[in-house]
Amino acid sequence: MNFPIYRPRRFRRTENLRRLIRETTWSVDQLIYPLFAVPGKGVLNPVQSMPGVFQRSVDELLREVKTVVDLKIPGVLLFGLPESKDEHGSQAHSREGVVQEAVARIKDKFPDLLVITDVCLCEYTSHGHCGILRGHEVDNDATLDVLSQVALSHARAGADVVAPSDMMDGRVGSIRTCLDENGFSQVGVLAYSAKYCSAFYGPFRDAADSAPQFGDRRAYQMDFSNAGEALREVALDIDEGADMVMVKPALAYLDVIRRVKDEFGWPVAAYNVSGEYSMIKAASANGWLDETRVMMEILTAIRRAGADCIITYFAKDAARILS
Ligand code: PBG
Repeated sequence: MNFPIYRPRRFRRTENLRRLIRETTWSVDQLIYPLFAVPGKGVLNPVQSMPGVFQRSVDELLREVKTVVDLKIPGVLLFGLPESKDEHGSQAHSREGVVQEAVARIKDKFPDLLVITDVCLCEYTSHGHCGILRGHEVDNDATLDVLSQVALSHARAGADVVAPSDMMDGRVGSIRTCLDENGFSQVGVLAYSAKYCSAFYGPFRDAADSAPQFGDRRAYQMDFSNAGEALREVALDIDEGADMVMVKPALAYLDVIRRVKDEFGWPVAAYNVSGEYSMIKAASANGWLDETRVMMEILTAIRRAGADCIITYFAKDAARILS
């Protein structure tokens, strides 16, 4: 027998030995919970493809936010579904918009909770694309001004951080300038920097009613074959003033999270997206996977890859387990 002197199994023998050498740790501090606001009162619509996720009117949202605060989750990411849609997504920057109202009422009741808003047009445009169309193409530069107006309306409502998810070139700089010029230099920008064109967003498009009515998002979201390009996207966003950058989705892009973290050392968020949530829910509903264990394994893997924070529909479940 020619065993090495060092036997790795020795320190796996008991839980306290395992605790001692555990490399990746995380807590509720790292979690952000996404929420979907809809107009109306007493509305609580289950999202079929995302068990446990609901579209909520603002009154219902406030109840959910209370749970989030009680679980000590530091922040929420808000999405809105407007009363009506048009070509230009004009409801996205309406003063009376559902997100604007939700932000104001959440901050009024829970001033310490971090409120991040998703800045995009796809929930608000009749065609479901993330920007202003010229013919069948999204016009990048024409979209920048509208996105800045959306971000500004969120800042006016009291958002702590705005998170542009549209993937137009130059939007971080344009939003940063607009916020600064209007006296909101303290409002942060979390840039969806490396946002891939992903089939994992499928269930979200039910939740947010934001599926494109023609074509797809390949002309503005990233090709999933590319990782070097993600570094260029992140470099641009940091240069334009992003306080935190994001990689999205998370699970199939752990290499990208790691490379972004190593290359820039900037705060990195990872978005554990709808499809990543739904596939675990579906498999566990069938008894094929242990939901809790798989959830913790995946969230830990995202953290191990280098994410500082994780946006996840599992935030409440994970917070309960961690406490
Ligand atoms: C809006 C947006 C999307 C997601 C977050 N913001 C959908 C998309 O780009 O089609 C996806 C989130 C998820 O799947 O959980 N642009």
